[in-house]
Amino acid sequence: MNELWYKDAIFYQVYVRAFYDSDGDGHGDLRGLTQKLDYLQELGVDCLWLMPIYPSPLRDDGYDIADYYNIHSDYGNLDDFKALLEAVHARGLRLIMDLVLNHTSNEHPWFQSARADRNSPYRGYYVWSDSDRKYLDARIIFIDIEPSNWTWDPLAGQYYWHRFYASQPDLNYDNPAVQEEMLNVMKFWLDLGVDGFRADAVPYLFEREGTICENLPETHTYLKKLRASMDEHYPGRILLCEANQWPEDVRAYFGDGDEFHMGFHFPIMPRIFMDIKKERANDMRDIMRLTPSIPENCQWCIFLRNHDELTLEMVTPEERQWMWKKYAPEPRMRLNRGIRRRLTPLLDNDRKKMELIHSLLFTLPGSPIIYYGDEIGMGENIWLPDRNGVRTPMQWNAGNNAGFSEAPAQSLYAPIIDNQAYGPLKINAESQERDPQSLWNTIRRMIARRKQHQTFGWGDLKWLDCQNEHIAAFSRTYQGKSVSILHNLSASGQTAKLDNIKKTLMRDILSEKAFEVRDEKLVLKLRPHEYLWLE
Ligand code: NOJ
Repeated sequence: MNELWYKDAIFYQVYVRAFYDSDGDGHGDLRGLTQKLDYLQELGVDCLWLMPIYPSPLRDDGYDIADYYNIHSDYGNLDDFKALLEAVHARGLRLIMDLVLNHTSNEHPWFQSARADRNSPYRGYYVWSDSDRKYLDARIIFIDIEPSNWTWDPLAGQYYWHRFYASQPDLNYDNPAVQEEMLNVMKFWLDLGVDGFRADAVPYLFEREGTICENLPETHTYLKKLRASMDEHYPGRILLCEANQWPEDVRAYFGDGDEFHMGFHFPIMPRIFMDIKKERANDMRDIMRLTPSIPENCQWCIFLRNHDELTLEMVTPEERQWMWKKYAPEPRMRLNRGIRRRLTPLLDNDRKKMELIHSLLFTLPGSPIIYYGDEIGMGENIWLPDRNGVRTPMQWNAGNNAGFSEAPAQSLYAPIIDNQAYGPLKINAESQERDPQSLWNTIRRMIARRKQHQTFGWGDLKWLDCQNEHIAAFSRTYQGKSVSILHNLSASGQTAKLDNIKKTLMRDILSEKAFEVRDEKLVLKLRPHEYLWLE
């Protein structure tokens, strides 16, 4: 059973640079994170996901790796990493890291060698062409910045292929040596004891003419190889799939339970925001209906926000325009096909909506992941470029630099959020830990309750008709035990009517309030944005 720990786990995404600076250089580091594990454990987190911490020129904040076997000096060294892992495990927590398979940095020695010499053993590690007219059906992902997936390299005398920034040349998975290299990378970190990986950008590993170069069968074959090796030598470790795709395409990444253990549910995410704005549950319901079932040993990962723009790739063009209008009124708030904003400002800093959305996060099918800082309601800085506005320093207390670092303010990797609504005087972890009514404590209690009910990690989902379109009502059932969950998506009071209830009493497991069932019917009045988890 324990090998399936991820089915019930609460995940937390850490941007190490932003978390805690232990040595006063203005950058968060591994020792800093180690010092803050108590905080995470108290919140109820089970597993940390660390964004890339490898040596990198940081043209894509570490998703451009120059050495897969080391730690970026800003973050510390391998000994610091081992100490962190030990401390994590000593607490019974787990840690997964980013595994960036699709591309390296252009400063990686493989690429440097490949471009300098056609006969280099590394030339074949990348995808070269004399023409930039190949694979034209592949879309451009960073569409605001990159004009093409091909970039001319004057030294190489050829074009090279890249699905992301030009500073991130794609690896050539048709080359068995590349396949082997990346398997070794995985094994290196597993040998150190990490509990698995969030595998970055996996749909794009292979290219084939006449296709969109995504989700190709060859890609699945290779990923299954990684999984088989993991199962054979490292049972209990996991692979979490980052595939920003429609549910049926993500479904393929679970295979027969022999590819990924987990996959982010990308399409549900924007629909949660859509439905809160529209005050009705249709879009969430529709996408969950379109979501195929997955093997018993697999799990969805549900998220609200992360370090990237809130992606609007998994909605129609009309829905994208609508979302931009509603949630990103200023052009600066938009990036590529998404919205570069934090959770709390997206929800107008409205405490009730913040709780409501977390209730959805914790009750929809899958394991929830929290993006650092969202548990205290951190704000954004839309004046920073790219996606940096959602990657600002964690706000620990109301003191200097929000308690994040002892460096002079001008040496911080990014400024602390500095405005009335979201600055550290208003938003910080220390004061919220002390205040039983804070967002942090409310989320902590939700997590604690969730952990008492296996149905949240394991149960089936069934939408309930409560005769009110403003209320998202569904049940989660596992081994005969059922919890009915109601979310009033609207800003006004609403009545829910549930039929066919074979109990005399229902109890909200969050507030412990009891409700009487009469003639198998339950009539409930919900306050604006109220949510109930009824047992
Ligand atoms: C997805 C990551 O989340 C994003 O931050 C990154 O830029 C791309 N993959 C490329 O690695």
